[in-house]
Amino acid sequence: MTLPLSDLETPVPVVDLDRLGRNLDRAASYASRHGLALRPHIKTHKSPRIAQEQLARGAVGLTCATPFEAEVMSGVCRDLLVAFPPVGSPRAGRIAALPDDVDVTVALDSLASVETIGEAARAADRRVGVYVELDLGMHRVGVPVVDDAIAIARAICARPPLEFRGIAFYPGHIREAVGAAQSAKLETLSASVGEVIAAFDRAGPHPRVVSGGSTPTLWNTHEIRGITEFRPGTYVYNDRTTAEIGACSWDDCAFTVLATVVSTAVPNQAVIDAGSKALGREPMRGSDAAGGFGALLDRPEVAVASMSEEHGILDLSKTAWRPAVGERVRVVPNHVCVVVHLNDVVVGARGDAVETTWPVAARGRGYSIDV
Ligand SMILES: Cc1ncc(COP(=O)(O)O)c(C=O)c1O
Repeated sequence: MTLPLSDLETPVPVVDLDRLGRNLDRAASYASRHGLALRPHIKTHKSPRIAQEQLARGAVGLTCATPFEAEVMSGVCRDLLVAFPPVGSPRAGRIAALPDDVDVTVALDSLASVETIGEAARAADRRVGVYVELDLGMHRVGVPVVDDAIAIARAICARPPLEFRGIAFYPGHIREAVGAAQSAKLETLSASVGEVIAAFDRAGPHPRVVSGGSTPTLWNTHEIRGITEFRPGTYVYNDRTTAEIGACSWDDCAFTVLATVVSTAVPNQAVIDAGSKALGREPMRGSDAAGGFGALLDRPEVAVASMSEEHGILDLSKTAWRPAVGERVRVVPNHVCVVVHLNDVVVGARGDAVETTWPVAARGRGYSIDV
């Protein structure tokens, strides 16, 4: 007997399985067409089940941000990158304590973190691969000066069981619409990557892996000089921001929050049971045209204009549609990764039929504090 979506209590996160499958297939075939290693970032789905789908389609390994993500993903993958500075002995210790048969790599940008992960690796008597992270425009983490990056790479080479494997960068500063505006920034990025590789090849250890990539730049990754590996995360589900900049179409948005209209009492608006605790409070990134905190899948012109914790206020000014109390809507969030992380379980549906559910297993930090 099939369970219709209309029987579910709301708000509830729903993944369209057909769209998810298409998104996974498209990125996998792009990677193989361009000879690029796909190492998807699992921070978007945090689910071993979807990770397995990515690996089955040819992903070389997975990217994680937190020790807990790596621990959960070690159950399904033997090749993990923790793309976050391994600072502090609790964090470094957890990374070094991953199962022995997991080939683990970290990305870092300081000599201090080389020391920390080096000590943890020695104590655990395990090899840990290292990418040196460079700042190529995002100004978040990463060494801005290539000579300093080379000095860190040399320090890694001098500290077995650490193993220098390459360089990493994240082009999170490129959020322009796909096309001319993005191409100009991509060209600048590409030139910088080329210069970094040349400097390493002249003076430092050879970076076997050049790891970058994001969802906004996904389909133009091959234009980045020297890149060997890319790490998109959002592409599995996509979201309103990704569609707005043209890195996916609206029909590629696989994740929505199913919600119910609970009030139309105040004229010219409708209130749904999805507020900031269901949708997050993420602004649109890289686009100032569309405001609000999400938009309806079937009526993209209707945005969630404002929110309380449990209330979302739909702006009806751009539509003649006037919903009735009890009507169901599906909201495409601005930034899907944060919304996934608000939930314990996600529903997988085909059309209007619930087919499956899965836990957001790597949600949270996964530590207990015993006092
Ligand atoms: C280091 C790193 N790599 C890859 C990604 C994936 O990028 P996107 O979410 O654009 O797919 C992220 C996202 O935050 C990241 O921080």
